[in-house]
Amino acid sequence: KSRLHTKTFGQKLVYKEEVTSTQEEAHKLAGKNEPEGTVVAADKQLQGRGRLDRPWVSASGTGLWFSIILRPDIRPQNAPQLTLLAAVAVTEGIANASGLQPRIKWPNDILLNEKKTAGILTEMQSDPDRVQAVIIGIGLNINHDKDHFPPELQSKATSLALENNGTAFHRADITASVLRSLEYWYGTYLTGGFGAVRRRWEELADTIGNHVRAVSRFKTVEGYAEGITDDGVLLIKQKDGTIEKIYSADID
Ligand code: BTN
Repeated sequence: KSRLHTKTFGQKLVYKEEVTSTQEEAHKLAGKNEPEGTVVAADKQLQGRGRLDRPWVSASGTGLWFSIILRPDIRPQNAPQLTLLAAVAVTEGIANASGLQPRIKWPNDILLNEKKTAGILTEMQSDPDRVQAVIIGIGLNINHDKDHFPPELQSKATSLALENNGTAFHRADITASVLRSLEYWYGTYLTGGFGAVRRRWEELADTIGNHVRAVSRFKTVEGYAEGITDDGVLLIKQKDGTIEKIYSADID
């Protein structure tokens, strides 16, 4: 019996033992009119990609690496909303299947005990004024033990099992739960807009209401994280009272 309680998301699943990156595979399919909801999943990625051109550790047997194709009828500048939507869905999906309570770090890091246990990479295929496809890549660190991460990541990365006294989870259960909540939130977004997603994101995110430092290649902005705008931009109120909009950065 299928564990997947979704209408469309993941009902077509392209599973591969090993790929370069599930993002590449999903991009290829999306370029060939693959419908919304198709998922490309892999046990191992040779070149898993993270945000800001970083590599994503994607060894075999430990996590689940997948990309889903969406085709929302939105303008390209609204695509960041889907990144935040995915963060809400992954957080709730993990919570529902595991009982653990992850938190979000802006824009879309999923943390347990302040260490990263899942990451989201949103990319799109787009015309100047309309989105053709959004490819949401989700990496779930599920059954890693400590030695799986390189030394420089050990204080920053974790897995569900590590935060569950070493007890492993069924990867398919976690993935099915994430797809279910992704389908739920996407439906809410298409019918009711970004408002509900944004409110839930702000509840689940530790960033908001705290003093933060946003570090990007161009500058560092420090101040009080007030909230996010309707297009998913982070607002930081600086000491002098000015409000800075952060589009892309790392938060300390
Ligand atoms: C990040 O936090 O930097 C984003 C990590 C995203 C990793 C996932 S794993 C599945 C998909 N394929 C990739 O190459 N990357 C994403």
